Amino acid sequence: MTDRIPAAILGATGMVGQRFIQLLEHHPLFRIGAVLASARSAGKTYAEATNWVLDTPMPASVHAMVLLEPDALPPCEWVFSALPGSLAGPVETRLAADGHLVCSNASAHRMDPLVPLIIPEVNGDHLEILPRQRQVKGWEGTLITAPNCTTTVLALALKPLHDAFRIESMHAVSMQGLSGAGYPGVPALDIIDNILPYIKGEEEKLVDETRKLLGTVGANGIAAAAFAASAQCNRVPVREGHFICANIRFARKPSVDEVIAALERFEAPAVAGLPSAPPRPVLVTRDPARPQPRLDRAAGGGMSVTVGRVQRSGTADIRLVALGHNTLRGAAGGALLNGEWLLKVLKA
Ligand SMILES: NC(=O)c1ccc[n+]([C@@H]2O[C@H](COP(=O)([O-])OP(=O)(O)OC[C@H]3O[C@@H](n4cnc5c(N)ncnc54)[C@H](OP(=O)(O)O)[C@@H]3O)[C@@H](O)[C@H]2O)c1
Repeated sequence: MTDRIPAAILGATGMVGQRFIQLLEHHPLFRIGAVLASARSAGKTYAEATNWVLDTPMPASVHAMVLLEPDALPPCEWVFSALPGSLAGPVETRLAADGHLVCSNASAHRMDPLVPLIIPEVNGDHLEILPRQRQVKGWEGTLITAPNCTTTVLALALKPLHDAFRIESMHAVSMQGLSGAGYPGVPALDIIDNILPYIKGEEEKLVDETRKLLGTVGANGIAAAAFAASAQCNRVPVREGHFICANIRFARKPSVDEVIAALERFEAPAVAGLPSAPPRPVLVTRDPARPQPRLDRAAGGGMSVTVGRVQRSGTADIRLVALGHNTLRGAAGGALLNGEWLLKVLKA
């Protein structure tokens, strides 16, 4: 553990930042090298500034770490960013230009065709674009991004189906947990006994990012997959876990059994040995009452997506539900796995 690579966490005090701190405490490859937050927190110790909300104790190693100014250049080559999307753009660009290796959770750069939007098991090969990214942008370092939390869950479920049967169109309806809105997030009086049918920007992200993830590397960057897609996103009174109902039409018409078999066969051997990779990226349940957020979000250490209710659709070919953990697979765990994958690719 002594040779672990120090990594800086941007947005270290927030919902996703806390997950980074939790996951890095005993991580075999990376350790916490610096913590950054807003000007409100800079200069305070991590323990003073952070309202720790996770159900494991705050790691003792970060209690006394002093939070750096938001525009300080972190003293580490590796950076994990959990900055608000509205702030991440120029900050992450500057860090990549200055030679940092930035693995971001923020939305700012996700749709740039020269910035890989990565789930290693889905499109790890998109890192091929990195030499071109450095050349065109003139960066000394590099920047890769992790998808929106809901997109991550959907894309993992769709990947083996797109490969096997080619998606022609897809409609998804999400029910998204409260931690997806950050801390303190949605006011209690707005969400208790309620469902909110609008999450700003989420429906566009679910459509655009899913198509980019299932796209291909071309001459001008990453070209999105061309299938038709639409999404409706809802905030529900669940603490963690994003749940998606999807109706999908395919070019090659599969039976329900063929869909289940494709999902159960799905594996990514090059990724499977990495510290944050679950044994299986997608699990299938045949229990008609599963998956459920409380029972299934922790599958594979919170890094596996559970698919269930695979049935024929009355309006498309197949309908199914997919559930995943939004702050683990959908945020810090996903970005950390991206970092492990980038490290492996850079060393190869
Ligand atoms: N929550 C999820 O499930 C999820 C999933 C995927 C992606 N994401 C993305 O991850 C990012 C972080 O989300 P979150 O849920 O962790 O948000 P959050 O709980 O609101 O945390 C925001 C973090 O950013 C810091 N910050 C705020 N203003 C800043 C500024 N001007 N300069 C520098 N740092 C600043 C905050 O520091 P202070 O404590 O000092 O205010 C805090 O550490 C967002 O881009 C979000 O879209 C979130």
